[in-house]
Amino acid sequence: MPVRHILKMGDPRLLRVAAPVTAFDTDALHLLVTDLLDTMAAANGAGLAAPQIGVDLQVVIFGSGAPNPRYPRAPIVPQTVLCNPVITPLDAEEQMDWEGCLSVPGLRGVVPRWQRIRYTGFDPYGDAIDRTVEGFHARVVQHECDHLIGKLYPMRVRDFTQFGFTEVLFPGLDAAQDD
Ligand code: NI
Repeated sequence: MPVRHILKMGDPRLLRVAAPVTAFDTDALHLLVTDLLDTMAAANGAGLAAPQIGVDLQVVIFGSGAPNPRYPRAPIVPQTVLCNPVITPLDAEEQMDWEGCLSVPGLRGVVPRWQRIRYTGFDPYGDAIDRTVEGFHARVVQHECDHLIGKLYPMRVRDFTQFGFTEVLFPGLDAAQDD
């Protein structure tokens, strides 16, 4: 299955509010999910949203069930395909941490996210997903779902002294990881 081109920040297609999935368990939806999974794997991404490959639908994928070479110290997040997600913060606590994005290559920034969330939605077969999570898992879900409302993480950076090029901020990081 093809590895798709990932749109970069500046492309207006990344700024759209995506349309909900209305038909589940279709060939078209399964092909989209396969392309997302292949594209994320090829880029060593922690997650990917359909708008990042130019598809205007509320579909995100994240997690791998295994350590991510781009975030080697991050907790393991189960591989998930989530359609039509709804996020509810469970309390007012925020956490600040570094994020990158395959649509913003070469940069990292510190972004506030809810520490504890419940998220609901559907898998590609139309079966309900309902999870309560925290920390890195919650951060990844919030980052990916932001792509469905036209938000890229730099739009959430509050302190631009904590935003810059990965190779400068983290010179020890594997230089082959271009994001
Ligand atoms: Ni992203």
